[in-house]
Amino acid sequence: MIREPYGDQGDLDRKATGGPRGHGRPENQSRSASVQCWLVGVRILPVDPNDAAALASCVAVQAAAKQAEDPLGPAKTARVLRVFLAEGFEAFPCESWYTADGFYWLELPDRENRHLARLILVTRPDAGQPTAPTVGEELFRHALGRARAHGRSLLSLVARQGTATDEFLRGLGARPTILEARRVLDLAPVTAAQVAAIRETAATAAAGYSLIRWSGPTPEDHLDGVADMLNAMNDAPRGEAEDQVWDADRVRERADSSLIRMGVRGYSVAAIRDATGQMAALTQLEVDPDDPQWGHQGLTAVTRPHRGHRLGLLVKAAMLQWLAEAEPALNRIETGNADSNEHMIAVNETLGFQPLEPFWQWFELPAGEAK
Ligand SMILES: CC(C)(COP(=O)(O)OP(=O)(O)OC[C@H]1O[C@@H](n2cnc3c(N)ncnc32)[C@H](O)[C@@H]1OP(=O)(O)O)[C@@H](O)C(=O)NCCC(=O)NCCS
Repeated sequence: MIREPYGDQGDLDRKATGGPRGHGRPENQSRSASVQCWLVGVRILPVDPNDAAALASCVAVQAAAKQAEDPLGPAKTARVLRVFLAEGFEAFPCESWYTADGFYWLELPDRENRHLARLILVTRPDAGQPTAPTVGEELFRHALGRARAHGRSLLSLVARQGTATDEFLRGLGARPTILEARRVLDLAPVTAAQVAAIRETAATAAAGYSLIRWSGPTPEDHLDGVADMLNAMNDAPRGEAEDQVWDADRVRERADSSLIRMGVRGYSVAAIRDATGQMAALTQLEVDPDDPQWGHQGLTAVTRPHRGHRLGLLVKAAMLQWLAEAEPALNRIETGNADSNEHMIAVNETLGFQPLEPFWQWFELPAGEAK
């Protein structure tokens, strides 16, 4: 799914990832929020995803922040940002608020981690003027109040490393947790022969497994297998967050939700153990039709009993071969992993992924300790 930060999703949350099958998802808090707040001259309003002016304001702020802080990274298009602000990537309850110069998204997990609120704060960089920090602070105070009102005791926060937001969060007393290292694969120099050779090497170590693939939401007969994969993601380094517990129903209701609602194209390649028919490995990737040059890596996982057979490399090499046919405009793929996730990073480096700075720095801040 297309989320920001992106990645071989799972190091931090299953941000993973996210389906129109979202019929059973909880009501989005932002839609019910009707309160307007005035804070020291800054008017903070709930984002109504059907309000074109509100969305345009957030898109403009997001674009300005990206241009200043991450000129080489992919943009989050209006199509994706609209659904993200309203429903997040995983159909957890969330709410979004904005002003002319900034916005925030606050996710309120309702399964595990119910003590936690995840906050992404984006402000318009405005060099030489105090606008951005002031707006950032006002938005932060507002978000803190909302998190407390929802009974959340811990904030999980993220900033691009080395930016004003990073400094701002540290100044609040936020504690750095996971550093999410971004990597990008430039497809231009990658030849079909190179990818075929990598796949062959991996396949040699993966005797007894066969590959399957699908586009779009998870087919009914693979819901249990995908749930196993999402549970395997709990082994990715991700701070102190509680394990997520997935089953077929949760996959049906939530795992593909952003894919469907955002209208992005989703690709999945899985390895099946021949002897048992069990899914052993999965990799997923998304392409936004409004920005088809970029591929956004979703989850990659191998379940514990099947690790060490190069299945991660095998499914990712097979994905590259598929994308070469299916997505002719694609020229770069981005991913992100905890910088301590040596096994996933080794797979990505074998495929030619290179670091892309700035990385994402995650923080924790007890709601009661915010300075
Ligand atoms: C990353 C991952 C997909 C790699 O699995 P894989 O394809 O089976 O890994 P490889 O076959 O390349 O393994 C290479 C070596 O590392 C070991 N290894 C792989 N993953 C390991 C893990 N999570 N913990 C300990 N050792 C691991 C293998 O046993 C193997 O050891 P060996 O060479 O001594 O036999 C897998 O570790 C995983 O699912 N991790 C949890 C989910 C995750 O982190 N996903 C990425 C999120 S960003």
